[in-house]
Amino acid sequence: MMRALGKFGSLAAAAAICIAATAGFGAERTKRPAPIAIEGDAARRPWTRYPGWTTRDYSAFNSLASIASPPAPRQPRTLASPIVGDPAIGRQLVADRSRGGSCLACHVMGTAGNADLPGSVGPDLSEIGNAGRDDEWLFNYIYDPRVYNPETIMPPWGAHRVFNEGEIGHIVAFLKTLKEPAKFANALDDPAQRPAPKETRDNLDPLVNPGMWAVERAEELWTASGPNGASCTSCHVEPRTELKSWASSMPYWEPRLGKVLGVEEFVTRHARATTGQSFLMQTEEIPHWPFISAIWPTARQFTST
Ligand code: HEC
Ligand code: HEC
Repeated sequence: MMRALGKFGSLAAAAAICIAATAGFGAERTKRPAPIAIEGDAARRPWTRYPGWTTRDYSAFNSLASIASPPAPRQPRTLASPIVGDPAIGRQLVADRSRGGSCLACHVMGTAGNADLPGSVGPDLSEIGNAGRDDEWLFNYIYDPRVYNPETIMPPWGAHRVFNEGEIGHIVAFLKTLKEPAKFANALDDPAQRPAPKETRDNLDPLVNPGMWAVERAEELWTASGPNGASCTSCHVEPRTELKSWASSMPYWEPRLGKVLGVEEFVTRHARATTGQSFLMQTEEIPHWPFISAIWPTARQFTST
């Protein structure tokens, strides 16, 4: 015990010497924590992202806003009676992009969706009808694949109530009809031949990316004085150099609030504590801030003071 502590102590001392030595050469200075307002909401209450934002209640499921999901089933569900599904309805359901994004996002499924741009995240199921999978297994795999594969990346369609049991029955009936490789209308539809997309647009060109207009507005906001008499420039004279890599460090864990802060909430709380401005999240002013960081290059480099 003592020996371990002693070793630790001398390591710490060596580290301290290193830090002292590099600091003298203008290496990244030790950062003070940015002032932030802890109290109060950073967003309007009630909070809405867009007018008419989904009326579905996802609170019982994992999402960016909530960490909740029905626990993985321990046992497959036993079907009380044989599946009597309609393959034609199943064919429609698997390609329905309004229902959880559709199976075709990940699977090729023969004729489903006319094999229009299916994905290849999951196995090609075009011949699953020959695979000897029984109805109950297929039903359970779709209802909640975690019962057979705890590491699955396929969503639990039944447990998340995207499809009800009757609908899963139709899907099973459809899958059993799949016995031939999919025919693709062109190379683009075939995930094995589809070329990787190439981006040729210039995302910094305001005519291509209207979001860039927001950068100009952000620069005005940067120099506008808030109720405390200070503007962002009062403390950050050279934001393009000083905050060069900030965007790439976001979001971050903020111990003072015990949560993760994104760009928007950071700027809201930081402005409140410094310039006194109130840029509530999801309002006119706030979307501009992320854009200003977008035009700063990403290498971390602070002006040494
Ligand atoms: C009263 C001084 C002051 C004012 C005014 C001020 N800041 Fe800051 N800001 C700081 C301090 C101190 C830090 C902590 C990091 C540091 O020491 O540079 C910081 C950090 C930041 C960071 C994070 C940098 C990082 O790498 O973590 C950003 C982004 C930022 N400020 C943006 C703004 C914006 C936008 C405004 C105007 C709304 C603003 N600041 C106004 C003092 C100020
Ligand atoms: C996010 C991607 C994704 C989506 C969307 C998806 N799957 Fe899957 N699926 C997978 C992956 C990956 C596998 C391979 C094993 C695993 O990870 O569970 C799989 C496996 C399967 C299997 C088992 C195949 C076998 O015989 O081993 C079936 C059946 C299946 N999926 C049906 C569906 C159906 C029906 C839908 C739509 C309701 C769907 N999948 C949507 C990713 C997905």
